[in-house]
Amino acid sequence: DAEKADYKARIKQLLIEQDAVLVAHYYTDPEIQALAEETGGCVSDSLEMARFGRDHPAKKLIVAGVKFMGETSKILSPEKTVLMPTLEATCSLDIGCPIDKFSEFCDAHPDHTVVVYANTSAAVKARADWVVTSSIALEIVEHLDAEGKKIIWGPDRHLGSYIAKETGADMLMWQGDCIVHDEFKAKALRELKIQHPNAAILVHPESPANVVALADAVGSTSQLIKAAQTMANQEFIVATDRGIFYKMQQAAPGKTLIEAPTGGNGATCKSCAHCPWMAMNGLQAIEASLSAEDKTQHEVFVDDALRDEALIPLNRMLDFAK
Ligand code: 13P
Ligand code: SF4
Repeated sequence: DAEKADYKARIKQLLIEQDAVLVAHYYTDPEIQALAEETGGCVSDSLEMARFGRDHPAKKLIVAGVKFMGETSKILSPEKTVLMPTLEATCSLDIGCPIDKFSEFCDAHPDHTVVVYANTSAAVKARADWVVTSSIALEIVEHLDAEGKKIIWGPDRHLGSYIAKETGADMLMWQGDCIVHDEFKAKALRELKIQHPNAAILVHPESPANVVALADAVGSTSQLIKAAQTMANQEFIVATDRGIFYKMQQAAPGKTLIEAPTGGNGATCKSCAHCPWMAMNGLQAIEASLSAEDKTQHEVFVDDALRDEALIPLNRMLDFAK
C-alpha cells in the first residue's frame, strides 16, 4: 500500500545518503528481504551475514535480524556504525545463556574446549574458544573431536545433541532452546507426511531430536534452501521459521512448500513457526534506525575489552569456513 511504498522510498534514499547497507536474515519478513536485495544488501544465514557486513565497504550496516547478529557485525567491523531496527530483538538462546552462569559451567570443566553457537551475547563469545553457526557447527566439532578434544557446548541443546549424535564427540551440553524450533512436533509431522508421501522433510537442527529423526535433510537456513533447490522432490515439508519460504520458493520455483506442524493452535501460540524477535524488523523500524537523531534504540556498541576477546573465536570460525 501507499504507506509501505513511502517507507521503502525513504529507506532507499537514506541508505544512499548515509552510505549504509541493509543486511537481513532469511527469517525477516519477505518485504524486508526484498528491500535488502533491491538495495544491494544481502539476505542470508547468520554466517554469511557476518561475512557480508565485514567485507562490505559501506560506513554503516543496518542489521535486520536479532541482537547477536548486530553484535557480531560490530565485533567484526568496529569502525562501522552498526544500527538495528530495534535493539529489543533478541533470541531465547541468548536470553537463556547468561554469562555468569555459563562462565561457572565452563570453570567447572577446565579441561574442555568451549564451543558456543553464534546465538549468544558478546560476553559469552568472549568466554569461548570457538564460535559456530549452524552451517559450520558439524565440521568444526568433527575437527575438534579428531584432535581428541572434550567439548562444552552451548546454548542450544537440540543442535548440540544432533551434532553429538552425528560426530560421536564428547559434549557437555548447556540446556537452552529456540522457542520457535522447539515447537515442532514429531507426531503431527508423521501424520502430515502420510498425507504427502512424496514430500521430503527439511529440518533445522534447532528442532527436537524426534523431529530431526524424521528429516530427509538437516541443515542451516542456507543449507535447507539449497536442499529444496537440488533435491528431486516436488514437495517439501519445512521445519524452520516460515520467513524462509520467501527465498526457498525463489530458489525452488514451482515446488510446493508446506509448513511443518507446531504445537500451537494459532490462537494460543505466540511463537510457532515465526520468531517474534525477527518479526520486529518492520519497515517503520528500519526507517527509524536511519532517521532518528537519538540512536539509543538502534546503535549497537560492544565493550572494547569484550570485543577483543570475542573476535578470537569468531575469527577462528571464519578462517575455518574459508
Ligand atoms: P542460520 O541457520 O541462518 O544460521 O539460523 C540461525 C538462527 O536461528 C537465526 O535465528
Ligand atoms: Fe533465536 Fe530461534 Fe528466533 Fe533464531 S528463530 S533468533 S534461534 S529465537
